[in-house]
Formats: sequence, structure tokens, C-alpha cells
Amino acid sequence: MKPRLIVTRRWPAPVEAILAERFDTTLNASDTPLSPAVMTSAFANFDAILATVSDRLPVAVFPKNAARTRIIANFGVGFSHIDVAAARERDIVVTNTPGVLTDCTADLALSLLLAVARRTGEGERQLRAGEWRGWSPTHMAGAKVSGKTLGIVGMGRIGKATAKRAHFGFGMNIVFFNRSPVDDDETRAMGAVQMPTLEDVLTTSDFVSLHCPGGAENRHLINARSLRSMKGDAFLINTARGDVVDQDALIGALERREIAGAGLDVFADEPAVPEALKRLENVVLLPHLGSATEETRVAMGMKVVENLTAFFEGRPVPDRVA
Ligand code: DGY
Repeated sequence: MKPRLIVTRRWPAPVEAILAERFDTTLNASDTPLSPAVMTSAFANFDAILATVSDRLPVAVFPKNAARTRIIANFGVGFSHIDVAAARERDIVVTNTPGVLTDCTADLALSLLLAVARRTGEGERQLRAGEWRGWSPTHMAGAKVSGKTLGIVGMGRIGKATAKRAHFGFGMNIVFFNRSPVDDDETRAMGAVQMPTLEDVLTTSDFVSLHCPGGAENRHLINARSLRSMKGDAFLINTARGDVVDQDALIGALERREIAGAGLDVFADEPAVPEALKRLENVVLLPHLGSATEETRVAMGMKVVENLTAFFEGRPVPDRVA
């Protein structure tokens, strides 16, 4: 008998086709996140749950006793929406999809950086509203990017890919904060300097780009105090997770112009985005598009297929995180 899977959202068509071929697959035709009660019942009825960042899997949705589910295969690299300890306690394997979304997420971090520095969102809104009065020497002058310092928080795959684009493409100087030492050829080639503390990165950088995981260990890593440490003309870019930043503190800092602006692809309580953020001109806001290209979404799905196939054939699972 084929293993029974539930796919919590609609996935790219080629991936759904392979899943349907290899497994006994149930798709969530409504393409909306499953309620906690439905998620709990999924543990009793399916061998595998194929989750995404839009699902919430705190300990409360896990069954109290033994579950039918033996693997949660996440469509995405970040898995802080899954209580991994609760999964481990119940002998449920958890997998993710590292690597295949590195380039696209780094591209998006750069596009947010450029957009907020060069005021492209603001400019486009002005033009579309018919409010552009023509070229002038002072019109929408933003901040220069080339030659500035980019501070990377979390020098993993995506942090490095962002730093490379910024350094080799835009001549930016790279400093970074990472909890463990990073000293490799790639980092040395771009002359990236590891700073002893986050504070050092915040006080030195013209742009700060976040690339660390979400969840308890990094919750509100960027808070009112850290925002005050940033230069008054610096920008914050977040393509990591919304909970890494204290969103209320960020709104306050932006409203008071304690920092120059922010480019945000992720939010504390997605898909909710505070009205106060939407009112600000010095921010660029995107609906969690980091990995959103056709190619990458298919590649992410194929990674999930690989992980599931290995698991159910009893082979080592390539991207096991628990
Ligand atoms: C990830 O892969 O973690 C992205 O944020 C979305 O899935």
C-alpha cells in the first residue's frame, strides 16, 4: 500500500503530479491553511504531513499519544513554525528544503535593499497617482548603495549569497554577525569581517540584512535597543522571519525616523501587516516572496519528494532536521 499523505496547500502542478503518482495523496483543494483541529486529525489519518510556513504546528496540535504520522515534510528551509521537540518526542521525522531557494531569497533581499534605498516603491506610487511633476535635482533623492557597508546577521547559505551579490555586484563592504565562527574561502574572497557582537554590526552598517532562523532563540533579536544602535541613516532588510524583529519597536523607530527605512518580506503575524507600517513611505513591503519563482518552487517541491521517497524506502533522509 502506498503511504498516505496530506498536502496542506496547493503545490506547483509538476510536483503534485509526482506526489500523486508515488503516494496516496490528499490535496487541500481550498488552498487555505488547515485549522488546528484539522491538523490534529491529520496526525491520526496520514503517514506524512506536507506542511508550509503558512501552517502552525505548535505542540498543542500534536496528538497526546501515538500518531499515525511518521514524517512532517516542510516545503521551505525555515521550520520554526513546527515544534520540532514535540515531533521528536513522538518519533516523527521533520525535513526541510535547504539550498534550492538560496539564490532567489538572496536576490529578493537585494531587491528590497535597492528598492528602499532608491525609493522605487515611493516613486512608482507617485507616478501611478499622477503626482509626478517632472525631473528636478532634488526629486526623490535616495541613498547611494555602492561603497556602503552591509551588515549580515546570520552568515549561512542565504546570508553569504546576499553578501556576495552586494560585494561583487555593488561594491559594498561586508561585515557580519554569526553565533559560530565563519572562516571559509567564499567569506575571505569578499573580505567579509566577522564582528564579535551583533551590536558591532548594527553600529557599523549602512544596511542590515537579517538571515538567521526564526523561533525562540532569535525572537526579537532586533528590538528597540538594537534599533537605537543602528545609524540614523541606516536601513533594515528582513527576508528571514517576522519574529526576529520586534515589529512594534520597528514601527516606532521608523515613525520617529530613528532609522532611515526598512525593506520587509516577512511579518510577525502573517498575513496580517499592521496599518501603521502600510502608512509609512520609508518602507517597502512584500508578501513573503523570498523563494517565489516558478523554478524555485518546483525545486522545493522536488526536494520534498526526495525526502519522502528516501524515508518511505527506508534510506537515509537527505534533509532531516529532527
Ligand atoms: C522558507 O523556505 O523558509 C521560506 O521563507 C518560505 O517557505
